[in-house]
Amino acid sequence: MIQIVNLKKSFGGKEVLRGISLEVPDGATTVVIGPSGCGKTVLLKHIVGLMRPDEGKVIIDELEISSLYGASLFKIRECISVVFQSSALLDSLTVGNNITLGLREHTKLREPELNEIINEKLEMVKLEGTAELMPAELSGGMKKRVAIARAIATNPKYILYDEPTTGLDPVTANKIDELICALQKKLKITAIVVTHDLISAYKIGDKVAMLREGEIIFEGTPEEIRNCEEQKVKEFVRGRIYE
Ligand SMILES: Nc1ncnc2c1ncn2[C@@H]1O[C@H](COP(=O)(O)OP(=O)(O)OP(=O)(O)O)[C@@H](O)[C@H]1O
Ligand SMILES: [Mg+2]
Repeated sequence: MIQIVNLKKSFGGKEVLRGISLEVPDGATTVVIGPSGCGKTVLLKHIVGLMRPDEGKVIIDELEISSLYGASLFKIRECISVVFQSSALLDSLTVGNNITLGLREHTKLREPELNEIINEKLEMVKLEGTAELMPAELSGGMKKRVAIARAIATNPKYILYDEPTTGLDPVTANKIDELICALQKKLKITAIVVTHDLISAYKIGDKVAMLREGEIIFEGTPEEIRNCEEQKVKEFVRGRIYE
């Protein structure tokens, strides 16, 4: 399980995370919503150990990742995959080689086994037959799918998505949401999704937490946040839906 305890982080005197505590239940999808600039990506970076907190801690499977360095940090990171906001594919590598990048570095798998993994993961994200394409030949939605295929290639226990539907048209965004749900059901991965897309949050979240000005101001089910009467929560939820 992932537990975030009283996490604080400032940049140049500006407090971005002001004491965040959140429990992420195993086998479910937890969505963290909040306006642009509220600290969602900063929070994700702390969870994977790419940023260090000023105070507080992140505990993953009873290990405090925020105090690990070197080999022990890499070891725990192996069970976590991140789908970055930009997809972060390497332009000079084919789709297939992007998917197996991590495996080539960290395992001794041979070409036939790697090819099998590429085909299996591409099938899961419904992109069969694209292994030889270059990222420049893909649409935004396809890139996102390849990034997801790469994330699941290492059979992670946890997968973190940063704005998986941002910048996509509503139909494509819906398909990515469906893919996230389908993978969660099939692979039983624990997922954290940070997004400002409420429609997506309602669809994929088992649990929703709302971040505002560096604090969690709501935690509950999608149904509960929709009916929440708290002014700050209402502003965001209604504002997004009716604008
Ligand atoms: N490495 C950094 N150095 C200094 N400031 C940073 C750094 N990373 C993030 N920040 C600041 O922290 C704040 C939160 O940034 P963050 O990227 O987490 O927002 P966000 O909620 O992910 O926004 P968006 O929805 O637009 O992606 C911003 O004010 C940003 O300028
Ligand atoms: Mg962000």
